[in-house]
Amino acid sequence: MVTLISGQPKSYWMASTEAAFHPPASEDLSTDVAVVGGGIAGLCTAWELARAGRSVTLLEGGRVAAGVTGHTTAKLTAQHGLIYGPLSESFGAETARQYATAQTEAIEHVAATAAELGVDCELERVPAYAYTHTDEGLAGITAEADAASAAGLDASFTVDTGLPFPVAGAVRVENQAQFHPRRYLLALADDFIARGGRIFEGSRVADIDFEATPHVLRLGSGIEIRALEVVVATHYPIVDRVRLFGRLSPHREAVVAAPIAAEADPGGMYWTAEGNTRSVRTAPLPDGRRLLIVTGEAFTPGSPDVTGRFERLAAWAAERFGLTEVGHHWAAQDNHTTDRLPYIGRLPGTERAYVATGFGGWGMTNGVAAGRLIAGLVAGEPPAWSELFDPARVHPGREAVRFASFQKQVVGHFVGDRIAARRTELDDVGPGEGAVVHVDGESLAVHRGEDGRLRTLSAKCTHLGCIVGFNDAERTWDCPCHGSRFDLDGSVIEGPATAPLERKDPE
Ligand SMILES: Cc1cc2nc3c(=O)[nH]c(=O)nc-3n(C[C@H](O)[C@H](O)[C@H](O)COP(=O)(O)OP(=O)(O)OC[C@H]3O[C@@H](n4cnc5c(N)ncnc54)[C@H](O)[C@@H]3O)c2cc1C
Ligand code: FES
Repeated sequence: MVTLISGQPKSYWMASTEAAFHPPASEDLSTDVAVVGGGIAGLCTAWELARAGRSVTLLEGGRVAAGVTGHTTAKLTAQHGLIYGPLSESFGAETARQYATAQTEAIEHVAATAAELGVDCELERVPAYAYTHTDEGLAGITAEADAASAAGLDASFTVDTGLPFPVAGAVRVENQAQFHPRRYLLALADDFIARGGRIFEGSRVADIDFEATPHVLRLGSGIEIRALEVVVATHYPIVDRVRLFGRLSPHREAVVAAPIAAEADPGGMYWTAEGNTRSVRTAPLPDGRRLLIVTGEAFTPGSPDVTGRFERLAAWAAERFGLTEVGHHWAAQDNHTTDRLPYIGRLPGTERAYVATGFGGWGMTNGVAAGRLIAGLVAGEPPAWSELFDPARVHPGREAVRFASFQKQVVGHFVGDRIAARRTELDDVGPGEGAVVHVDGESLAVHRGEDGRLRTLSAKCTHLGCIVGFNDAERTWDCPCHGSRFDLDGSVIEGPATAPLERKDPE
């Protein structure tokens, strides 16, 4: 296989936008609402609340719109793979209809808000397709076309797509959209501040005391924020209530992007679960060409050979779209739930705290819906479809299989990765490589720099103690259990962990 990938991973959305810097919180303060996390869910919620006249403070551990949201593919669509068929089958046609309504309203809300704020977020109306290559896959596609149509979407079965290869069948949904997520969200952040909202970046929340009134949020720096209401929008929640941790599973995916001629644009957004998922869209480039963005190669964080996944995805895109090199590549992960529906709403066991998570790879519309839902709950006027997303819901029978598989995965890593660490020796770690090594009864995350210098951390994830794995493409330590990710110096890149990996370098 020819190598098409070069350079460090960097998302096109991040590379093509510059964001205003918001300094960290430097003193204790009080606010009506504290929103923790500045991705699409947190920013949309903060903006909706500020627009409704609330005093809102947004606390972001890194930079806003730079987490998963800065590394997405930003299809703004109600077509979420094959979802309406399974939802109708498990929960009935009304559930599927409400889900479709929430997503369609989110698309229109983004279009209306972009127009209201005068933001050019490259919003383009295009059809969305979910397709299969195989005759065996056709039954799922036709069932999805029927269920999506019954749910109120303009959906139909077709064999004609704009892809440069044949498909056995596809569901086509009309009038969906794609956009530049950071152009939209950075404008939303500016407008939030213009409405009196406060944003503190570099302000990681370490702990939230929900028993205190008002609630107390403690930052890693020791600063305390007092808030009457708290929204946890940290992607994977940093707090566990009603065992949400057991009902969420992180899946990471690779993304490659490269310019193609405008005439080669497949004219839509495409998704298939086959071949370990493949998703395709394009975005406008200043020189008139289109940027082809391809996603796939889903894997559990902490899995080996991430470089190989990028290579396979790039080879797939090159073969079908004639690419000769890949300009951008990056990866990101999203959390899947046991019943395929996100958890958005009141945090169980609290009266004035809320959560938004579990978007299952479809957080562009679900993140916008989260903002509307939580702002509606705070105002006492939630949208008609809000109960669908209630984090307190349980469907023991219908969730059992996925719940068991999520648990098996976590337990397998908790035990299995400790055993695997015993088989690797320190001398096996070559320059530029990382591995978990068992030394004196302890699992250590060891990275050897190109200069031969070793950097040693505890391999025990500071969240709940699973063993991290080395990500060779992004040069990070990733936890397979709930998806926390750490830099080579141990600092937190992505939660639910809030504390760094312990340093084990000799003094
Ligand atoms: C490869 C890929 C492609 C995707 N493509 C699409 C798509 O085409 N369409 C679609 O609808 N969806 C897509 N998704 C899903 C979508 O991108 C996500 O669901 C969405 O971006 C998640 O938004 P979020 O706000 O929950 O998380 P994030 O954007 O990660 O925001 C959470 C924020 O919380 C911050 N944070 C975490 N812990 C703390 C703490 N302790 N204190 C303070 N701040 C903290 C983080 O730094 C981060 O900025 C895709 C996902 C992936 C992985
Ligand atoms: S993310 Fe939960 S144990 Fe690592």
